[in-house]
Amino acid sequence: MKKSTDPSEIPAGIVGLGLMGSSIATCLLIAGHPVVGLEPIVEGLEAGEKRIKDHLHLAWEKGLISETPDFYLRKLRITSDYADLRDVQLVIENVKEDIEVKKEVFAKVDAAVSISAIITSNTSAIPISDLQQFVRFPTRFFGLHWMQPAHTTRFLEVICGKDSDPDLANYLYDLGASWEKETVLVKKDIRGFIGNRLMYAMYREAMYLVEEDYVSVEDVDRACRNVAGYFLPMVGVFRWMDLTGIEAYRTVMKDLFPLLSNADAPGRLINRIVDDGGKGIGNGKGFYTYSEEEGKLWQDMYDEFTYEIRELAMKYPHDVVKKKLIENNDNS
Ligand SMILES: NC(=O)c1ccc[n+]([C@@H]2O[C@H](COP(=O)([O-])OP(=O)(O)OC[C@H]3O[C@@H](n4cnc5c(N)ncnc54)[C@H](O)[C@@H]3O)[C@@H](O)[C@H]2O)c1
Repeated sequence: MKKSTDPSEIPAGIVGLGLMGSSIATCLLIAGHPVVGLEPIVEGLEAGEKRIKDHLHLAWEKGLISETPDFYLRKLRITSDYADLRDVQLVIENVKEDIEVKKEVFAKVDAAVSISAIITSNTSAIPISDLQQFVRFPTRFFGLHWMQPAHTTRFLEVICGKDSDPDLANYLYDLGASWEKETVLVKKDIRGFIGNRLMYAMYREAMYLVEEDYVSVEDVDRACRNVAGYFLPMVGVFRWMDLTGIEAYRTVMKDLFPLLSNADAPGRLINRIVDDGGKGIGNGKGFYTYSEEEGKLWQDMYDEFTYEIRELAMKYPHDVVKKKLIENNDNS
């Protein structure tokens, strides 16, 4: 039987209502899914529920949703009981990044759900081919990698493990569109998946340039914001090279690739900060230092920014030119 792609017909279970789980639950509620929000740690239930409510209230204030938060909350059931997952067709796991914790959680999820349910993990880095061995039907298991906050960002990776069913991967890929994502399909399991591999290549070079005293931390951030920041949201890397002339890129690649950092371990810059207990804005000690007020303002203003960049990204989707061509054809 063909699986429905209508969110209202697909009850979903979000397991783990920490930072990621609560924003993913928000995203799915907005898309129209009935959602079971399962927090395995009873003490975390209240905080998880509050985060979802806060996300919906801000989404309402910002005009991201057309109904009041209560409309969406009516479709949410918060629980710590795995048996409440019995009717869900899709599970998205978001517990602590620890393979033993995830293994224990998947055993409980697997025992509770029906055999037709798709089970996914939002792991940041554990291979999907390893995780899928923890469930009865590895063919129905995938990585579903989100970006925080999941209800405003447009990134989503569907990752196949070695035993995943490609048809179901395509189904999840299509479902991503109903969550307003520009989904990426990772056809073969690869460490770090796609988004992180691209970003870590940039983090490595950024660390190298500062460690070798070519530039300050602040100026690396300025360069990223004003080089990549100006074209990546619209065209990515390949179309950027198409737009600006590919030949020169090959010439520069020949000269520059051998000179880029190929460090195979974290360097002294990040080691010093982490060894001194630095966590970033969480405790005011990071690549920059922050007063409590400053840290909170960066967080608040970044939250604001995610709404604005989302609007721009929605205005220039991946198929913006295709749509324009159709429009032009219709008018001619
Ligand atoms: N934060 C991000 O930006 C981000 C992005 C993509 C993926 N992820 C991944 O999402 C997952 C969750 O990350 P997060 O940032 O939401 O973390 P978090 O610390 O905010 O939440 C962790 C969740 O795990 C639960 N948990 C902790 N110990 C547990 C245990 N022993 N048994 C069962 N549940 C337990 C907590 O109650 C909570 O619900 C991780 O795998 C992480 O790597 C995070």
